[in-house]
Amino acid sequence: MLGFEDFFEYHMQTKHSYFSVRSFPNRLDWNNQPNVFKTYPDTFEKIQLDLEKNNHSFIYYIAGITAKKTYPGVEYYLRVNPSAGALYPNEIYFQSRGNSDIEDGVYHFDIKSSSITLLKKVDDNGVEPFIGLDTKQNGFIFFISSIYYRSSWKYKNRAFRYCLLDSGHILGSIEASAYIHDKEYEIIYNFDKKELNNLFGFDEKEFFTSCLKITTNTDKKVEKLILDLPTIDGSFYFETNKLIEKAYNDSLKTFDCSIQKEKVNFNYQKEFFKQTILNRRSIREFTKQAITINQLETILDILSQPICSDCDEKIDIYYVANRVKQLRPGLYKDNQLLEKGDLSSKAGYLCLEQDLGKDSAVTFFLTSKGKNYQALYQKASIIGHRLYLASNYLGYGCSGIGAYYDDEVCEFVKDNTQVLYALAIGK
Ligand SMILES: Cc1cc2nc3c(=O)[nH]c(=O)nc-3n(C[C@H](O)[C@H](O)[C@H](O)COP(=O)(O)O)c2cc1C
Repeated sequence: MLGFEDFFEYHMQTKHSYFSVRSFPNRLDWNNQPNVFKTYPDTFEKIQLDLEKNNHSFIYYIAGITAKKTYPGVEYYLRVNPSAGALYPNEIYFQSRGNSDIEDGVYHFDIKSSSITLLKKVDDNGVEPFIGLDTKQNGFIFFISSIYYRSSWKYKNRAFRYCLLDSGHILGSIEASAYIHDKEYEIIYNFDKKELNNLFGFDEKEFFTSCLKITTNTDKKVEKLILDLPTIDGSFYFETNKLIEKAYNDSLKTFDCSIQKEKVNFNYQKEFFKQTILNRRSIREFTKQAITINQLETILDILSQPICSDCDEKIDIYYVANRVKQLRPGLYKDNQLLEKGDLSSKAGYLCLEQDLGKDSAVTFFLTSKGKNYQALYQKASIIGHRLYLASNYLGYGCSGIGAYYDDEVCEFVKDNTQVLYALAIGK
């Protein structure tokens, strides 16, 4: 039996319960609402993305703006990737080497202006040594970071979870964009993140959590890149959160990792899948329609495809079938019925009483007993991202649900575990 000390301390300290959400209601400081875009000054060269160019389109389909919402006095933008509370804590950097239409260099994806900012050209130097490689790699090497205050402004201590979930969604977006642009990826969690945080001049406000490479090896030696970047304010206002900083530092090192070498093998019709990516949105309300058992099986099959990485943690997928034709309602895992009956109200209650969890066709709970917290959390939301796209592709809606009663979900699934993410799909 696993005890409190077997799981990541931060996770145990940031559980929601019926009591906690009522005793410590979240008050938002609207005067200090953080900015969601980071932009380097105009002294840096910016290259406008041109979707006619294959590699530009590849970048845009990762996190580009796909919708604008206007309310009296405010305008905000929605993107390819979902984000808890639309707070978008993550930033995307990449090295390009030997690619058409993108000069060799290190770039920041400037999402607001749909351009990429050249931070430094690369030649016999590059980021390869920072991920343990001493030869030049042709292709793309991405680094995903979080400016955590964008999220902790609203979600307080629990925000580190959301930063990791949102970062996993970006990895999932890269997976999807790589698929439509015929590229194969590999995720790296084991690299010296602190050294890179310093290299990019992050000043403790922003930190890297993952790397993804789409590369072919060469035999040409490469030296460590030196950068001299200004520290850019990416949130307008910033408040330090000691618990989050500790959680980040405590989860930096990976250990006892299993390596997943197998690549994903999707079977989507690519043009339609492209449209699915552009049109993806989080559903706000379900009209309680059912999905078919075949559709559920197709989706589960997509979720279980390998995620190629150097630290592959096991994620358990529990699902509450509320409305699936020809399937007994109840709680399932690995096609096994764990508890039968209409559990829809219970599922909604567990998602902090959100109707999304109750009115869905299926509500999912993703859990893990793994030790590599950054890797397992990001993997959970790569799976979550697949769930968004697979259900949207089949004509159904999906929403991520980051708020749930942790311990009560454990009691419900009868497993003492770490609950990472909930999601609901349906119509
Ligand atoms: C990690 C994560 C957690 C989320 N949690 C919730 C939630 O608890 N309730 C909810 O209604 N929406 C939730 N959402 C949906 C976001 O509100 C939505 O992604 C955001 O508003 C952007 O809109 P879009 O997904 O339509 O682009 C979540 C999304 C993510 C990625």
